[in-house]
Amino acid sequence: MNIVEPALKSQFSSAFDVERVRADFPILKLQIEGKPLVYLDNAASSQMPQSVIDRLVRYQTTQHANINRGVHYLSETATAEYEGSRRKLQAFINAREDREVIFTSGTTDSINLVMHGYGRKFVGAGDEIILTTLEHHSNIVPWQMLAEEKRAKIRVVPINDAGELLIDEYEKLFNERTKFVGVMHVSNALGTINPVKQMIEFAHSRGVPVLVDGAQAAPHMKVDVQDLDCDFYAFSGHKLCGPTGIGILYGKAELLECMQPFKGGGDMILSVTFEKTVYNTIPHKFEAGTPPIAAAIGLGAAVDYLSAIGLDAIAAYELELLNYATEQMNDLAGVRIIGTAAIKTAVLSFEVRGVHPHDIGTLLNQEGVAVRTGHHCVQPVMLRLGVPATTRASFAFYNTMAEVDIFIASLCTVQKIFI
Ligand code: ALA
Repeated sequence: MNIVEPALKSQFSSAFDVERVRADFPILKLQIEGKPLVYLDNAASSQMPQSVIDRLVRYQTTQHANINRGVHYLSETATAEYEGSRRKLQAFINAREDREVIFTSGTTDSINLVMHGYGRKFVGAGDEIILTTLEHHSNIVPWQMLAEEKRAKIRVVPINDAGELLIDEYEKLFNERTKFVGVMHVSNALGTINPVKQMIEFAHSRGVPVLVDGAQAAPHMKVDVQDLDCDFYAFSGHKLCGPTGIGILYGKAELLECMQPFKGGGDMILSVTFEKTVYNTIPHKFEAGTPPIAAAIGLGAAVDYLSAIGLDAIAAYELELLNYATEQMNDLAGVRIIGTAAIKTAVLSFEVRGVHPHDIGTLLNQEGVAVRTGHHCVQPVMLRLGVPATTRASFAFYNTMAEVDIFIASLCTVQKIFI
């Protein structure tokens, strides 16, 4: 059994000042089961820095009122801060215009918005929607609902054993009935970074729009929607050091303008009579009702925080973490990494021979190590790769090489218990 000595293994030099970053996250000081927290469940939800917590407190204590509805000081302040946050998100993804950024409750909500607003209008009987085997259930189920309603068909891009999309097969799926493509930028379960720019270019050559689920990409790499030329891009705040209950949908203005609103209500209208309602302009047409104002402002603070560190620096450091952890896992007998794409983010799904993932997760928790176990909302991936479930360690820029050592040593402890 290969037991790693943390003190020996963590002599790693990197320009990235991880200790300074860690000091920004109060939750990382927690002890779990009497051990320092090693938080490796970042693909499920990341942690929040003090600056975002402080921003939420400042909003609630000095700026809160409903937006777009009052002429009084607080309402105008809250409206300005909310719209200011939209502009921060616009800059974060390099959208051409702020009206191309719609606040939603998260990635799932964003995809459902596109399904209802675009899909129900432009997909008909016999039409085809291309998805990939890697998709999260949130980018499968809404399209299945649409396919059932419209008697449309879903075509699926296969993957190889490493968890990479077969791009030749993707291209072969297109025909004159293809109306839409949905693809995740980065796999939540395997970490695979998909060649979305190339896929978008091909889809556009056939006149087909593309939605990119960026939930696992936006926190880990620089996203430029103009460079990708995607038609829609969705992500969530809570995986991006921001609050839960908030996310965005980016959409090209000309597409958003011709879409049906998904939800009706206050603020998404210009005028209402019982005979006829005239909808508001974008983005407001898609933001019915009082939005999660504090969360939207908190998300603006989160992208300020990440941008100050720099997404390129984050990506480079996380790659070091991935390489270091992968090397050590490959040395462990009886441990198999599931998802070995050549280009991936710092996600390690794995199985340990003879040990159920839930037992691994429970025992790792006793060592203070937080991981996710199960099917990770990607049952088709599990089916394709022939595993019922995996244990998944997903890293963020505030994780350290020493934490990788603790994780590996804890895995060795798990193996010992089951031998
Ligand atoms: N989609 C999130 C995950 O992969 C919840 O854990």
